Amino acid sequence: MKGLLVVVMVSLLCVFGISKECTNIPTQLSSHSFRYELLSSQNETWKEEMFEHYHLTPTDDSAWASLLPRKTLREDDEYSWEMMYRNLKSPLKSSGNFLNEMSLHNVRLDPGSIHWQAQHTNLEYLLMLDVNKLVWSFRKTAGLSTPGKAYGGWEAPDSELRGHFVGHYLSASAQMWASTHNETLKKKMSAVVSALSACQMKMGIGYLSAFPSELFDRFEAIKPVWAPYYTIHKILAGLLDQYTLADNS
Ligand SMILES: *[C@@H]1O[C@H](CO)[C@@H](O)[C@H](O)[C@H]1NC(C)=O
Ligand SMILES: *[C@@H]1O[C@H](CO)[C@@H](O)[C@H](O)[C@H]1NC(C)=O
Repeated sequence: MKGLLVVVMVSLLCVFGISKECTNIPTQLSSHSFRYELLSSQNETWKEEMFEHYHLTPTDDSAWASLLPRKTLREDDEYSWEMMYRNLKSPLKSSGNFLNEMSLHNVRLDPGSIHWQAQHTNLEYLLMLDVNKLVWSFRKTAGLSTPGKAYGGWEAPDSELRGHFVGHYLSASAQMWASTHNETLKKKMSAVVSALSACQMKMGIGYLSAFPSELFDRFEAIKPVWAPYYTIHKILAGLLDQYTLADNS
């Protein structure tokens, strides 16, 4: 009986191994250009061939979902969604009985509380970061002069993930600004946004990244590369936060 169970499990694993991609090795389906081409193609013959080749069922919603670009809700968007739903349902919506959304600009922590201490540790860390170092590889990529030197780690000039941390910095500093209105931080983060703007203008085609667009070509050609789209997402999210939380146009 035990032997049979093992055999059943092993064959289940084999089935999954064949029908499901469990490794990090990219296939043609990993390419955004290819998925777009497939989804928008009018050639039903080709579509059918591809669906068969990749074991996809056109009528299966989950197969379609795995082809479509992921559109995940941010945590606060999920919260907004729930708020909207409950507001629609609740007759108490205007009576003040229900939770209201509050801007970070209108919330201050009690100095002396452990939460305030944690927040200020974070603020001091953000203030330690240097504008020239943060934007070093963006300037390099744009062909601008590069005063100072780059950070190491993910931001190192030869790291394929460079620029990623800068995106996180833009989000973190925007939220910290909204939560503390520390003018020193605002000057620094605005200087980063302005430096990025100068890089984008210099390149002249809208592209803004700390690495050359060649990394996207490699991704689309299914050649090894780290995570160019993920990094661009961080930068866009950071710029959006600077715009919405700190009014930086
Ligand atoms: C449609 O796809 C089939 C199979 O790949 C191909 O042979 C054919 O040339 C395509 N038709 C057009 C109009 O592109
Ligand atoms: C910003 O925060 C730092 C660290 O707490 C503090 O030393 C500095 O005085 C603050 N600057 C302004 C303008 O509030």
